[in-house]
Amino acid sequence: MQELHDAPLAPLTTFRLGGPATRLITATTDAEVIAAVREADDTGTPLLIIGGGSNLVIGDKGFAGTALRIATTGFALDGTRLELAAGEVWTDAVARTVEAGLAGVECLAGIPGSAGATPIQNVGAYGQEVSSTITEVVAYDRRARETVTLANADCAFSYRHSRFKADPERYVVLRVRFELEDADGLSAPIKYAETARSLGVEPGDRVPLATARETVLKLRSGKGMVLDPEDHDTWSAGSFFTNPILTDEEFTAFHARVAERLGTDVVPPAYPAGEGHTKTSAAWLIDKSGFTKGYGSGPARISTKHTLALTNRGRATTEDLLALAREVVAGVRDAFGITLVNEPVTVGVEL
Ligand code: EPU
Repeated sequence: MQELHDAPLAPLTTFRLGGPATRLITATTDAEVIAAVREADDTGTPLLIIGGGSNLVIGDKGFAGTALRIATTGFALDGTRLELAAGEVWTDAVARTVEAGLAGVECLAGIPGSAGATPIQNVGAYGQEVSSTITEVVAYDRRARETVTLANADCAFSYRHSRFKADPERYVVLRVRFELEDADGLSAPIKYAETARSLGVEPGDRVPLATARETVLKLRSGKGMVLDPEDHDTWSAGSFFTNPILTDEEFTAFHARVAERLGTDVVPPAYPAGEGHTKTSAAWLIDKSGFTKGYGSGPARISTKHTLALTNRGRATTEDLLALAREVVAGVRDAFGITLVNEPVTVGVEL
């Protein structure tokens, strides 16, 4: 276990933003994680859990309390069952499942962050979500002061949401268990239209696992969604906003607004999102509200590769980033009457 004082947090985030923490502990075993959490709870010290830092917006003032970096390791395969320690680098773990010939998470390649963070916001991309393969999450329950094992059904997974996100002060994820599929070296059925197009197959088809993974990595790179320290388009938290889910009534009003603003021949993106609900695209809304790729003149700008990523061009502060985020939220609200919600977790600041 390593302990630092007045420790900079910016280097631990993909945004490279935020001030220091009073204390930074790096834990490499579950026991160290639990001990650090217990100590903070016993002394009433605010606690900030840091995984891969890819979904965190830390205020410029930093964090007055204990920041706990989860650096546990563990990749254990037993047949089609996989257990990952929370600190494992997610994209590396995905690569290993593909090498092992197992399907279920291959389309989640290239997603930055740690394995332990994936259940929190039910990480998803290119037609896969971790909630489809997670069987159990082992977590330290700060309220009960004990380690608990939550079955998939107890995790309350939905689009970019879970029980862990709903109750952020309660659980610290220690281990995540998955049930993968042995499909003779083939991927799970390809669901996402863009991936299917890119692969030259029909949605529902299977392709060799490695091909699926490489295709997703290529698509993500094209959107600046694969970390590259040389490329400021990737100094981001991936998607900064979630895709809005509208009721039928809200969608009708939105449709009318689109027709009025952009013409009746413009059809907004619409994806089924459960009975009576439709998901539309935040990237599209941002784009059509006048915030096109590369928007901005300051040190925080919209990515030049995808309108949904806000980025640090190198010298930004968190306040620069938030000013841009607020401008985008206000612009989209004015244009379409929809209020975007941020996907990353904010620490010491709010949108
Ligand atoms: N679009 C634009 N302008 C752009 C980019 C996209 O108008 O610059 C529109 C297009 O109409 C496009 C639509 O937005 O068809 C959707 O874009 P994309 O397929 O890239 O997906 P997304 O909805 O923007 C989501 C996830 C991503 C994930 C991709 C691929 C959310 C908030 N984001 O993005 O996840 O990689 O789908 O499945 O659900 C993340 O959460 O950090 C993340 C990167």
